[in-house]
Amino acid sequence: MGTSAAGFDVQGVNSERIAQRLEELARFGRSEASGGGWFRGFGTEAELRAREWLRDLWHKVLGLEVRMDTAANLWGTMPGREALPALVLGSHHDTVPNGGQFDGALGLVLATEVVQRLVEEGYRLRHPVQVVSFTAEEPNPFQVSTLGSRAAAGVLRVEDVRKAVHIRTGVSLRDALQAAGGDLDRLDRARLDPAGVSAYLECHIEQGKRLWSRGMPLGVVTAITGIYREEVVVEGEANHAGTTLMADRRDALCAAAELVLGFEEAVVRGGGEEIVGTIGQLEVRPNAPNIVPGCVSLILEVRSPDREGTAKVLRAFDECVRRVEAGRRVQVRRVRLLDQEASWMDPAVIGALERAAAELGEPYMLLSSMAGHDATHMARITRAGMLFVPSVGGKSHCPEEESRMEDIAKAGDALLRALLILDEELDAR
Ligand code: GLV
Ligand code: MN
Ligand code: MN
Repeated sequence: MGTSAAGFDVQGVNSERIAQRLEELARFGRSEASGGGWFRGFGTEAELRAREWLRDLWHKVLGLEVRMDTAANLWGTMPGREALPALVLGSHHDTVPNGGQFDGALGLVLATEVVQRLVEEGYRLRHPVQVVSFTAEEPNPFQVSTLGSRAAAGVLRVEDVRKAVHIRTGVSLRDALQAAGGDLDRLDRARLDPAGVSAYLECHIEQGKRLWSRGMPLGVVTAITGIYREEVVVEGEANHAGTTLMADRRDALCAAAELVLGFEEAVVRGGGEEIVGTIGQLEVRPNAPNIVPGCVSLILEVRSPDREGTAKVLRAFDECVRRVEAGRRVQVRRVRLLDQEASWMDPAVIGALERAAAELGEPYMLLSSMAGHDATHMARITRAGMLFVPSVGGKSHCPEEESRMEDIAKAGDALLRALLILDEELDAR
């Protein structure tokens, strides 16, 4: 890899070890039953075991001091040579249901590898280096995504989640967080002191096709999309599927079907290329073949680089809701779950990643992220940046999610080099 900006001759990352660690982490939550995908949702057995694996790796193999905060975020620390705020490398170890092997996992394995290379060389940076795995990044049945990074950034408070329960099992978030090692009643203590963090850097798969279709090995992220999410509950009337004549029905599922299509139309009409909307979760009650559906709840989300894009879609959807309520004699209740603004990555971190790619002689592309990430919250309290690795065929949140080892190794080298550059450039004397 050559001589770094800091004059430290560091070899590149060990790609065999990276491949092996990705396989090790993939043992947790792999399910043959659901088409070979992974499920390490927050609070599941697989998620808790993955935490243990990470904790042991960071403590026993890397020799880091490891601690868990009250949001159950797992932190590993390598001390620095100077009394400076930390450079943090992180991502998340949970997955969506029937998800892939790389979302979140790749960032943790590469962060681990970068620190391990420093440990192997016996090289201390000026800054302390921290690795972090944030709790519950993905949407989950407690309806609280990016729990750990929001708590760390101080934008999620105890009051926001005190009453949260698993929508199917009724288990409280308090109990689930305690089982993972956190403490919901003291969640505010997970808040980071911004003065203690110099920068946050996250490597992640792109999850879209922009890098892959251009044959570009690296992506440097400029901004992260805004995400708006709400639960929509459609109340109709459950009744006998044989004896209830068509004219007498208040079928909640038929009404929900109109809402789903109306929402899609609102997004397509109101949106630009970077505005997308999805209804990806639907619960039908009582969900039986011979009962007219009485109630349907669904979750919709809109992603947009600006607030006006989201607002336009929601205005069109409001009209659709009124039309469906009147036309089908149902009531629609709506509860906002998330309203997260787009965020900008920091010029110093973008610059370090660009310089790292250029020094390695690798082409890269500047792009925005249309997936949400913990980095969006870290950006509120520190300099944040992200490095993307191409996703084969642009597939993600599915078992086919994949990235090529040759691209992963380049990202590992770029991450290590960017860290060294930031160590030299930030908080300069
Ligand atoms: C995170 O995985 C997202 O939903 O973009
Ligand atoms: Mn994801
Ligand atoms: Mn992710």
